[in-house]
Amino acid sequence: MFARIARRYDAANHLLSLGRDYAWRRKLVAAVCDSSPRDILDLATGSGDVAFALSGRSPSARITGMDFCPPMLEEAERKKAAVPGRFANVHFLPGDGLNLPQAAGEFDAVTIAFGLRNMADRRRSLEEMRRILRPGGRIFVLEFSQPRRWFRPFYFLYLERILPALAGLVTGDRAAYVYLNKTIRAFPGREALSAEIAAAGFEDVKSQGLTFGIVALHEARKPD
Ligand SMILES: C[S@@+](CC[C@H](N)C(=O)[O-])C[C@H]1O[C@@H](n2cnc3c(N)ncnc32)[C@H](O)[C@@H]1O
Repeated sequence: MFARIARRYDAANHLLSLGRDYAWRRKLVAAVCDSSPRDILDLATGSGDVAFALSGRSPSARITGMDFCPPMLEEAERKKAAVPGRFANVHFLPGDGLNLPQAAGEFDAVTIAFGLRNMADRRRSLEEMRRILRPGGRIFVLEFSQPRRWFRPFYFLYLERILPALAGLVTGDRAAYVYLNKTIRAFPGREALSAEIAAAGFEDVKSQGLTFGIVALHEARKPD
């Protein structure tokens, strides 16, 4: 499905989130850079926007963007090649979040933005992220969440009716965005996701809601 929409993915993101996606990624990147990690894996990197934003804030870090969808990675490579020399510390690799190709303890931080919702087995992908982190390393999950109660009627109306129609026009693939609506509605809220992250072996789980709670940033630590 991501292969079908890869070329129009960024444009659809900016339009459908009314530009909020820039602010959400900035928040994620600021949280990551607080702990000055040297080796960062951006899992489910898609067209690479988180990896590029990390590179801008952390030019000395080594950033690996990983995804299992070749057309999304091609889009990321195309964007990197469009600004020669700018993102020299970013490289992209194919890989499956349920079976990461890296050895245990290789990374200081793992980021995953709007990717955990798409993993076929959330528990397993969280455990894989823990495995490839060094002890004390941190995970940062940016993902849709369940918004504040008063905002839900407007939000769900938008998700169900307006978003698929608008996305259909931009990407030519309405079905992909009906899927988006379904996965967003089925995804756990902040407390439940925090519990899942803890159950996968992380500690100090913290979360904050963004834009009336439609998105949440979770952060946690692999025990020493
Ligand atoms: C909604 S996009 C998010 C892309 C990017 N992180 C962003 O913030 O725009 C979700 C991505 O997850 C990737 N994905 C889904 N399941 C995956 C898996 N098992 N392993 C690696 N990538 C996966 C898809 O290919 C897609 O590029």
